[in-house]
Amino acid sequence: MQEEVLDDDERERLITVLCNYAAGETAALEGASGLVGIAPNRNTKLFLATQVVDEGRHLEVLIHRLQELGVRDAEAEIERRSSPKLVEFRRRLLELVASKDWEAAIFAQNVILEAMEFAVFQRHRATADPRTAEILDGIIKDERRHIGFGENELGRRLQTAPHVRARLGEVRRQLDPLVLASFEDVTEEIGLERAERPELARSYLRAVERLGFTP
Ligand SMILES: [Fe+2]
Ligand SMILES: [Fe+2]
Repeated sequence: MQEEVLDDDERERLITVLCNYAAGETAALEGASGLVGIAPNRNTKLFLATQVVDEGRHLEVLIHRLQELGVRDAEAEIERRSSPKLVEFRRRLLELVASKDWEAAIFAQNVILEAMEFAVFQRHRATADPRTAEILDGIIKDERRHIGFGENELGRRLQTAPHVRARLGEVRRQLDPLVLASFEDVTEEIGLERAERPELARSYLRAVERLGFTP
């Protein structure tokens, strides 16, 4: 794939965005691997094991792209450039996994986090340089599968257990503001005009609302 020549400002902004994606993928990798331990049966454990591999690969290709862009110490750069909102999201997600609350944790991981990534990656892909677009394309295909698993897993439970719906509504009220605030931190960097921003939030909200939640 031919490398498009980025000017210094574009390169800097892309590095910041990719560092944030890498922070999100790190949360997904840690979240999914923790979920293997609390998954209720072997089929769900197996799916999550494949997801762990996917998330690890996503992180790997993003780090590789950062290196192509001239970043020497990706670890330090990811720490330095991650949105504090995303760092907080990761902390809350891992808390839910640690509390062994299967429905809440799978909801935070495979619906909320995945829907957030899906909305941003898809929008960014439309205007990204060819090399970055190719990477995002590969990641988006996997994220679609991860969201599908979350929806299937929770859809049935939501119909039969009303207390699960109440619990997930509560998790959503805590996490939505963090998701929407992290969007604010990256939208400028991916070249999104102010007028287009509500559409990004709507695309996230639509994905969560497929489970029957309304804000
Ligand atoms: Fe991912
Ligand atoms: Fe994922």
